[in-house]
Amino acid sequence: MSILAPSILNANTMNLGSDIQEAIDGGVKRFHIDIMDGHFVPNLSYGPELVENFTTTFPNMEAEIHLMSNNLDVTIPAFVKAGADLLEFHYEATDDVEKWLKYLKDHNVKAGLVINPDTSVEVIKPYLDQIDQLLIMTVKPGFGGQSFRADSSTRIAQAKKIIAEAGKDIPIEVDGGIDDKTAEIAKAAGADVFVAGSFIFKKGPIAQQILKLENILI
Ligand code: DX5
Ligand code: ZN
Repeated sequence: MSILAPSILNANTMNLGSDIQEAIDGGVKRFHIDIMDGHFVPNLSYGPELVENFTTTFPNMEAEIHLMSNNLDVTIPAFVKAGADLLEFHYEATDDVEKWLKYLKDHNVKAGLVINPDTSVEVIKPYLDQIDQLLIMTVKPGFGGQSFRADSSTRIAQAKKIIAEAGKDIPIEVDGGIDDKTAEIAKAAGADVFVAGSFIFKKGPIAQQILKLENILI
């Protein structure tokens, strides 16, 4: 079964609560919250307070944190404390992936590993026992509103094969440039979880945009 996880990054921060509520009314159960540190990526977004407010205001929603930071000593504990249900950090952001996967497990937070478009899919192999989700970036991280990369299908299929050969059942998530056309492409390649930002929050009534994606992802 596919999961849709709207990214609030391109929502208007002044209307955030009501936009999130509108997405919930459209059937959403999980939100993707992009954290950018201005260092690992050349953009800044939210701090832990936003996540804390999200989890207290919408306690039944799953908070999926996409951490685009390489200051993990500070940022991972801060976002775990803020109430992350699932925390995804980048393979490229640390020399000690294992340590942080263990940290998340010890704190009862589901662990996601993220790989950038230029990182070989093969790098995931040593971590398949420890991850709850794999996020394959379908754009270079840092900004919403970019185009889905054409080589993404091959990468999704490659990851699907590696995971199956290891006898694991790890959902593959895609993030970046997902709309009603690219969602279909990613689904056909084997993606399970779909992040969409601009398409949901900028291109039309939120519930209507969600419905367009849900119709494809069913
Ligand atoms: C990009 C972020 C994405 C982004 C998705 O760095 O990780 O989650 O917000 O936005 P769209 O759907 O507009 O590409
Ligand atoms: Zn993201």
